[in-house]
Amino acid sequence: MDSQENQEPHQPPQPSQTDHLFLKLRYFSLISILVVFLAILFSFSNTDYYKIQLLRTTLSPHKIHNLLGFLYPTPKIKQNPQTNPNSRAPHCVLWMAPFLSGGGYSSEAWSYILALHANTNNPSFRLVIDQHGDLENVEFWEGLSQEMKKLAFELYQTQCAVEETIVICHSEPGAWNPPLFQTLPCPPTGYGHFRFVIGRTMFETDRLNPEHVRRCNQMDSIWVPTEFHVSTFVQSGVDSSKVVKIVQPVDVKFFDPVKYTPLDLASLGSLVLGSNSGNSNSNKKFVFLSIFKWEYRKGWDVLMKAYLKEFSEGDGVALYLLTNPYHSDRDFGNKIVEFVEDSDLVKPAGGWAWVYVIDSHIPQVDLPRLYKAADAFALPSRGEGWGRPLVEAMAMSLPVITTNWSGPTEYITEINSYPLPVDVMSEVTEGPFKGHLWAEPSADKLQVLMRRVISDPEEAKAKGRRAREDMINRFSPKIVAGIVTDYLLEILNGTD
Ligand SMILES: *[C@@H]1O[C@H](CO)[C@@H](O)[C@H](O)[C@H]1NC(C)=O
Repeated sequence: MDSQENQEPHQPPQPSQTDHLFLKLRYFSLISILVVFLAILFSFSNTDYYKIQLLRTTLSPHKIHNLLGFLYPTPKIKQNPQTNPNSRAPHCVLWMAPFLSGGGYSSEAWSYILALHANTNNPSFRLVIDQHGDLENVEFWEGLSQEMKKLAFELYQTQCAVEETIVICHSEPGAWNPPLFQTLPCPPTGYGHFRFVIGRTMFETDRLNPEHVRRCNQMDSIWVPTEFHVSTFVQSGVDSSKVVKIVQPVDVKFFDPVKYTPLDLASLGSLVLGSNSGNSNSNKKFVFLSIFKWEYRKGWDVLMKAYLKEFSEGDGVALYLLTNPYHSDRDFGNKIVEFVEDSDLVKPAGGWAWVYVIDSHIPQVDLPRLYKAADAFALPSRGEGWGRPLVEAMAMSLPVITTNWSGPTEYITEINSYPLPVDVMSEVTEGPFKGHLWAEPSADKLQVLMRRVISDPEEAKAKGRRAREDMINRFSPKIVAGIVTDYLLEILNGTD
């Protein structure tokens, strides 16, 4: 990792200064950051090689801030010029998350910010954001809408006084102050200086590590997205009076099936299994879509097993996997072929059903068109925090098949989806959650459900319609912004 990070924009100040410091003072504008990005992209993005180099070396943590700091050298910390206590600025909510990184926490944090921005006409607090918890990713930034970019600049610029600020650390607890890896600490100046400090996090297994429990208990409050997390956090030792369920919004206006035409999936995907000749006939196929990071947890092995056992070329189905690397290389096609060769799967007489991999980056603005091109969504995951692709697919009225365990149990029902039964709980065998348990979804029952989606299209459509209704009624930005705002106001009113 990069070690030349001595120019962090927020030097942790001495506690004695904190009463008077302004948390933020930034003089950059939409134009300036666009200039920086355009300069970077036009000079370096000729090939993937340069793009990867760009991500690895140029955009080390805080590089964006550093570039801007270089262009606009300003004092990092500003003394507060004698605030008149009678004309106090309104309170602030500083949301610290991987806004420029992509990935689960990033899209989750964006969904809250957009929801609050669009639905809070509340003068009691102002919203501020900061990048925290992961590396910046240029591709992700490029894929954001102009509206989101503009909002990011606006919210970066707000000034707040520390003692008037509620901080939300939206990341894995290892990123919290003191961080266990290179990232802007959250809360920036340690515990005890801010009005209130909230940790927003989630896990995908049945328990928390002791160090995570300790870090959660340092916070004034812990926000988790589901009942599943309330119970796993409390059972693991997180103070139950601190644990609050705050569900996640899904942008039901953006993810609205009537607004989009489908993407041409066949032109985006690489054919991994199934014959090329059969592929060229233009008959409409039934399309299963799955979206996940390439990791064992996501149950891609279960999905392949069920799909390839149940279907052959003659069924006219196609499975599209939109995936990206997770501590792995990009060679997904070969990994799938190897998996099939090493398994007990037997090639059907009619030939393998089609499997495609899409490993190119789909810009966020095109995601609805991707869902629109599918007939059903399947994710037999072993454990999920929330499952953003699932709620996005549901908002797009797709019938969804997913494991009946962990985060998604907050919103999947027999009426709005196909909950996939769990065979047994199994032990996590590697990584930081080794020894925890998660679910082993039933491949046999997945086979049955995938067939059922195709053979009973009326049922599938009804579930899809109901899925969208449920997303609108429970998780629309307006509803969730109301929940978040009420809770923040309760804190502001209660801690005076
Ligand atoms: C899903 O899990 C819940 C809770 O464990 C259970 O009550 C329900 O019957 C399950 N549904 C299916 C389809 O397995």
